[in-house]
Amino acid sequence: MLENMTKMLNHAKENKYAVTQFNINNLEWTRFILEECEKEHTPVILGVSEGAAKYMGGYKTVVDMVKNLMNYLNTTIPVAIHLDHGSSYESVVAAIDAGFTSVMIDKSREDIDTNIDITKKVVDYAHARNVSVEGEIGHVGGQEDDINGSILYAEVSDCVRYCNETNIDFLAPALGSVHGPYKGDPVLAFDRMEEIKIATNKPLVLHGGSGIYDEQIRKAISCGICKLNINTELQQAWTSGVRNKLNTDSEVYDPRKIIKAGEEDIKRVIKEKITLLGTKMYD
Ligand code: 13P
Repeated sequence: MLENMTKMLNHAKENKYAVTQFNINNLEWTRFILEECEKEHTPVILGVSEGAAKYMGGYKTVVDMVKNLMNYLNTTIPVAIHLDHGSSYESVVAAIDAGFTSVMIDKSREDIDTNIDITKKVVDYAHARNVSVEGEIGHVGGQEDDINGSILYAEVSDCVRYCNETNIDFLAPALGSVHGPYKGDPVLAFDRMEEIKIATNKPLVLHGGSGIYDEQIRKAISCGICKLNINTELQQAWTSGVRNKLNTDSEVYDPRKIIKAGEEDIKRVIKEKITLLGTKMYD
């Protein structure tokens, strides 16, 4: 069943576990994720970046693809289609109008006042249409950033102000995680995470979930993380399966066989994350 993330993440918060956002890049990945999560009987969030949406043929194509696959596969688990890092009000509105059930507005590079103003507008538009909203405070780095730079970390007071003034549903505070592979060991500000959990009482989201050690993920959940975003680890797993196939089978030319060669690896990572996060089903 397609739904927004509200029930999913509130249940996770109450029961102290987390749900994974697995980012999708094409039809096959979407299918692998839906099949594995159905097998494990857990809810799932399909994350779609603006770049991935463009690659797949636009927001409407993504929504229709997910709906049709769910219908074809007889999917019964709760599924959210979530815009990852929506960069503007217009982009978020387009995703909502196309049928996304949840969106992220990411104005974390702007000053806090601008971030609040735009997020508020997004929340008004989204909530009127039963769509949930995630926002970011501080800035989650990429490979180009200094992962230990204090500039990236969210301030508790900004988080409180942002939540109070925008009525956002979920908060992604930047606390040292980065998108893409880590250069050194991930360094997360757990004390700050817990302070933000207590001060805002919102389900928290951890971006840059790939490459974070299992112990750190368990600790993050105990400090309020209810949603963990995984993209890079799925990409790496899939690529290693496909690379292995191409290296060991010089005869293969059918694209279906090549793409499918990453299926087992993707499904293994999904199962590992679901188990690690303790993801549960709810009524
Ligand atoms: P990774 O690159 O660590 O998988 O993070 C994905 C993410 O946070 C998407 O928003």
